[in-house]
Amino acid sequence: MRKLIIAAVAALTMSMGTAQASGEYHPDFKEASWSFEGFFGRYDQAQLRRGYQIYSQVCSACHGLRLLSYRNLSDLGFTEDEIKEIAAEKSVRVPHDEVGAELNDDGEFFTREAKPSDRFVSPFPNDAAAIDANGALPPDLSLIAKARIGGPHYVYSFLMGYAEEIPEEVSSQKGFTVNEDKNFNLYYPGYYNSMPSQIYDEMVEYEDGTPMTADQHAKDIVAFLNWAAEPELDERKSLGLKVMLFLLVLTAMLYALKRKIWADVKH
Ligand code: HEC
Repeated sequence: MRKLIIAAVAALTMSMGTAQASGEYHPDFKEASWSFEGFFGRYDQAQLRRGYQIYSQVCSACHGLRLLSYRNLSDLGFTEDEIKEIAAEKSVRVPHDEVGAELNDDGEFFTREAKPSDRFVSPFPNDAAAIDANGALPPDLSLIAKARIGGPHYVYSFLMGYAEEIPEEVSSQKGFTVNEDKNFNLYYPGYYNSMPSQIYDEMVEYEDGTPMTADQHAKDIVAFLNWAAEPELDERKSLGLKVMLFLLVLTAMLYALKRKIWADVKH
């Protein structure tokens, strides 16, 4: 119990620390609700597919998703053939991407089409090349929805947080200087980051009739990133529900049993 209290206090002070350490002004995260929140929350498969579309058409130019395999896309309703096709658009350098893979008969590296069992192919061969191309390292997005305080709420606010006008609360801060080389983002620690704003109306074309607004796009990509970080959420919650139901029934049965066993005992 004592350990638990210490851990809780430590977690609390840590989260307060990050918010206040720099004395920066960050408004509360932008309001958004997700289908996957709450006890009964589940992913919306159509939304995940739209999010994947954004990842593959936009974000994948700079960001990897190296903890996902192409075959994981079956969760989104893609068929085996579709997944094969998606994978085959990428090429894997062998043995660079596969530990222990063989060189070809001439003892050289070779490339082949990616297979459904391959991990998502990253856009850059390594971090140095990624930094060189972008001025900063575009982090792998596999776990980003879990890696930041606020999770999906942070990522959503960050994506929508690029501002032309710097708010008074920020510009009036002591020591704040405008950085012409980077992009101002109200939610990013330190405000300036190397990723240009990505989200705008009609950035990709949806086929399911969903409105193609910047806000909708941001929500869809964030839902997809949350799935990438926690693909087992639906199963976990279904199992949780079953366990609760089981415990409820068990309790009722045990209670009935107890009453029966003790029925004849006189006080
Ligand atoms: C042109 C390249 C490029 C594209 C396209 C791009 N990003 Fe980035 N992104 C970056 C770079 C570079 C950084 C690192 C910024 C820094 O450290 O200053 C970054 C950082 C991030 C971060 C981390 C922010 C943090 O708190 O550290 C997230 C989340 C993110 N990008 C999401 C996305 C999403 C979602 C998309 C697609 C809609 C996308 N990015 C498209 C280059 C890109």
